[in-house]
Order: sequence, then C-alpha cells, then structure tokens
Amino acid sequence: MTLLLAPMEGLLDFTLRDILTRVGGIDRCVSEFIRVSGTLLPERAFVRVVPELNHGGRTRAGVPVRAQLMGSDPVCLAENAARLAGLGPAGIDLNFGCPAKVVNRHGGGAALLDDPELVARIVSAVRRAVPRSMPVSAKMRLGNLCDTRAVECAQAIEGAGASELVVHARTKAHGYKPPAYWERIRDIRAHVSIPVIANGEIWSVADALRCREQSGCDALMLGRGQVCDPGLALAIARPGHAPLAWEALLPLMAEFWQLIKAHIEPRARAGRLKQWLNYLRRRHPQAEAAYAAVRTENDPARVSQTLFGTEPAWHHGAPG
Ligand SMILES: Cc1cc2nc3c(=O)[nH]c(=O)nc-3n(C[C@H](O)[C@H](O)[C@H](O)COP(=O)(O)O)c2cc1C
Repeated sequence: MTLLLAPMEGLLDFTLRDILTRVGGIDRCVSEFIRVSGTLLPERAFVRVVPELNHGGRTRAGVPVRAQLMGSDPVCLAENAARLAGLGPAGIDLNFGCPAKVVNRHGGGAALLDDPELVARIVSAVRRAVPRSMPVSAKMRLGNLCDTRAVECAQAIEGAGASELVVHARTKAHGYKPPAYWERIRDIRAHVSIPVIANGEIWSVADALRCREQSGCDALMLGRGQVCDPGLALAIARPGHAPLAWEALLPLMAEFWQLIKAHIEPRARAGRLKQWLNYLRRRHPQAEAAYAAVRTENDPARVSQTLFGTEPAWHHGAPG
C-alpha cells in the first residue's frame, strides 16, 4: 500500500513532518497549503512553508514533499506554480477542499467544487505552467454542500491533466464529523483512470483495511491518525510490525522539541508541543500525564524542564 502524509495547516508543518517521516511507512508528503490570492509570491514565501525545498524537496528522512497551492484564480495560480516549480518541489498539489469561511468567501478551497469548469481551468493552467516532469496532483472533498458533483469534479481534474487525485471522503458541509464515506471514492475511481488516493478517518490498521476494501484504493492518505499514532503508517505498511511504544516516542518528542526551539518563535513553542501531546493522548494513555503536567504552562523553559528535565514528569504516575 502507498501511504501519504496529509497536509494539515497549523498542525503538521516541516518540524512534525520531519519527525513523523523518520518513523517510517510514509511514502510521500503534501505540505500545508500556500494561499495564492492576487500576487506573485516571493520565493521565500514558498520556502517558509516548505523548507524542504532547500533539501531537494525531501524531508531529512528522504521522503518527497509536494507543495500545496490554494487559490481560485487560474492565471495567478499558474504564475505562482511556475515560480514554485523552479524551487524543485517533489510535485505541486492543488487544494479543492479547504472548508475555511474566509477561503470559501473568496471562492477558494471547497467552494470551487460547485464549479467543475473553474476547477478544470485551474488544473490546466497550472499543468501548462510547470515542466512536464513536475507532477501536478489535486486534493478534493466530495463536494461543497452536497456530493452530487463529485464525479464531475474528479473528471475535470483528470481531464485537465492532473496525474493523481486524493479524495477526502466528505463534503465541506460534513466538516470533520465521522463517518467518512469511503464507498463514494469507489464511484469516483470507476469514472477516472488516474490513481485515486483515499483519505479521511483512518485511525487504525483496521480502518485502513476497511477503507481499502470500501474505496478500492491501494493508496491511502493519513492525517490526524498519524499525528495521534506516529507508528500507524508503519503498522499499515508492514503487517505484523509491533506498534510504536510510548518509550520509543519519547526520543522523537525530544527531537521535535529541539526542532521547535531551533525554528519556532519562543511564544509559540509551548503551544506546539502541547498541541501534539493533545493528539497523542488519543492513542497513548501516557500522553495524558505529560499533557496534564504542562497544560497550563506557556513558558517554553518550564515546559522543557517539566518534560525533558532529568526526570521527565511522564515517568511518574503515567496511567496504563
Ligand atoms: C488542522 C487541520 C489542517 C488541515 N489543513 C489542510 C491543508 O492545508 N490542506 C488540505 O488539503 N487539507 C487540510 N486538512 C485536511 C486533511 O488533509 C485531511 O483531509 C483531513 O484531516 C481528513 O483526514 P484524517 O481523517 O486522516 O485527518 C487539514 C485538516 C486539519 C485537521
């Protein structure tokens, strides 16, 4: 099975991508979206979101990273894609799924799924603007308010030249509320011939197997499930592989903290660590104690002392 790491703006940036891809099992990443609205962005704007551009478009573990663009103006997106392509990403992905009000109000993200013709013009303009060797892919939801035009959108994306399509199996109106409608991806697959990757609500190996069965897809994209359990991709990719134990996660968290300290401004550091711990709680009971120990703490030095001092707090009284 091919496994992709999902783009997650505000959560899964280059620091967490670095850590999660080091565990193994992830074949490819898509960056958080880079919003394009009316201007040609300077190169540094792309590199800020995708610092992997300075390292051959790969994470330190060598996993390729596609850069995701989001916008609604085909000409402007094409100009930005051309500049981005010059920086050497592993590919360019286009966002047709963002549910944010501010984005949709400007006609971007999931709102575009009401207009398959515009979707096609965007993909086609970007495809023409970048070298043939650069993959252009897309990520869509099933629709904006309903899923009746899902196949039409997927066909528009394929017809305009995208080489691959990720489908998050929900409409914008569904938000993030379970379930994900994996069987709808099977309908889409039946109507396009490019590879289709299934995404949404894969939290465990059992979910991955069910998603594969219902969608018919051999490639899956993992989002929150992989953040909660960094061993998930490996467990899916290698049946029988032991789950990633909490003890094996501790050095990864310490490395994450080093990256945070090196790259993230001081006032945001504690929040970043707490954010990941909050996700880890879902899969690792021991994360509960660690989270409780720093929950109200915002001072990075004290967070560091509490979690990574000589006697980390989670060594005491950790449940389970
Ligand atoms: C905090 C957060 C940020 C996200 N940011 C993006 C984004 O930048 N681009 C995108 O295409 N999807 C984005 N998504 C959607 C995810 O890529 C994915 O489609 C969704 O979380 C469903 O997959 P999951 O159930 O495995 O998490 C985001 C989701 C979350 C929760």
